[in-house]
Amino acid sequence: MKKALITGITGQDGSYLAELLLSKGYEVYGIMRRKSVVDYGNVDHIKDRIQFIYADMTDYVSLVNAVKKAMPDEVYNLAAQSFVATSWEQPIATADIDAVGVTNILEAIKLIKPDARFYQASTSEMFGLVQEVPQTEKTPFYPRSPYGVAKLYGHWITKNYRESFGLFACSGILFNHESERRGLEFVTRKITNAVAKIKTGHQECLELGNMEAKRDWGHSQDYVRAMWLMLQQDTPDDYVIATGETRTVREFVDAAFQAAGMEIEWHGKGVEEYAVNTQDGKTVVKVNPHFFRPAEVELLLGSPKKAEEALGWKREIPFDELVTRMVANDLELVK
Ligand code: NAP
Ligand code: GDD
Repeated sequence: MKKALITGITGQDGSYLAELLLSKGYEVYGIMRRKSVVDYGNVDHIKDRIQFIYADMTDYVSLVNAVKKAMPDEVYNLAAQSFVATSWEQPIATADIDAVGVTNILEAIKLIKPDARFYQASTSEMFGLVQEVPQTEKTPFYPRSPYGVAKLYGHWITKNYRESFGLFACSGILFNHESERRGLEFVTRKITNAVAKIKTGHQECLELGNMEAKRDWGHSQDYVRAMWLMLQQDTPDDYVIATGETRTVREFVDAAFQAAGMEIEWHGKGVEEYAVNTQDGKTVVKVNPHFFRPAEVELLLGSPKKAEEALGWKREIPFDELVTRMVANDLELVK
């Protein structure tokens, strides 16, 4: 039986990956942070099938102990301060976790289990101010947030440990992926949660920042399969995982209201932009400059060509299904 250690197991991707690995017969170990109230997050429903180890990405010794305890065949490093907006408010914590934290786990593996295969959760945020469209494994990086900068360090240190010490270390450069388990502050879930509340009369209006930002949105369930595939290859490498489609935040809003059976109409421009419910004329979306970022990533569009050809990976959940599932789930939760 193969053993896997997942950091960030309580998060969105950690939970879908744990389900995937359990379904393949893995023994799954998960790193969890100590909190004042015990909270298994997104893996509450499978907590009895996971062996939890208390550790923190900023505490090297705790990671050494975790690797010793699990003696894993595969390590998936998904733990991160993953919210871009917060990275301007907590730049140092973001770097400690998302940058130096990667070295901590790589060092723990090098010391205790150097033959373990390693997956690093790299990100399309590293492309930032994009240098070409679509973005591929060869596109130069230009991060635009403390999060993007920290993740770029994590990306390069992973490559460096592969080249320096021969570790089987891969980076997945994953574009945005969402789900019913997405954190409420990320724009897709913020939208679907608000749409469900507006539809059921629990909220009047949804306030958003930059409506023009374009993202390449897929479903997390598809993306964790790519992580696993990367670690099953003969040689370690880095791969872009994306859908090859891009949409504005405004288009996501449209799709979410449509999924809830509501029609909206847009008016105004820039910070004056708003949308009304065509049935009663009430304003249901407006712009709030509070949600603009100090520096924005305006356009992300990835090419999954290499992953499709080399890994045989294919996105299975299309955009409309992603939105429909998220809205249906939030409507159910509101009820
Ligand atoms: P998420 O839901 O925010 O989960 C992050 C996880 O990291 C949580 O389990 C969190 O634990 C844990 N964590 C945070 N700080 C930690 C620390 N100091 N020590 C140990 N654990 C810590 O993120 P996600 O969407 O699943 O993303 C997974 C990974 O992929 C992240 O590294 C993210 O940056 C990266 N990524 C995500 C996307 C995307 O679109 N989702 C795209 C590209 C890359 P708590 O429960 O204790 O907070
Ligand atoms: N969160 C948020 N809230 N974003 C908003 C809002 C709002 O009210 N209004 C507009 N946006 C815009 C943001 O400015 C950004 O351009 C876009 O919506 C997406 O924001 P998020 O959903 O917060 O995600 P992100 O793209 O910044 O980062 C996510 O994807 C990265 C991969 O590209 C996170 O999952 C990162 O961890 C991940 O690396």
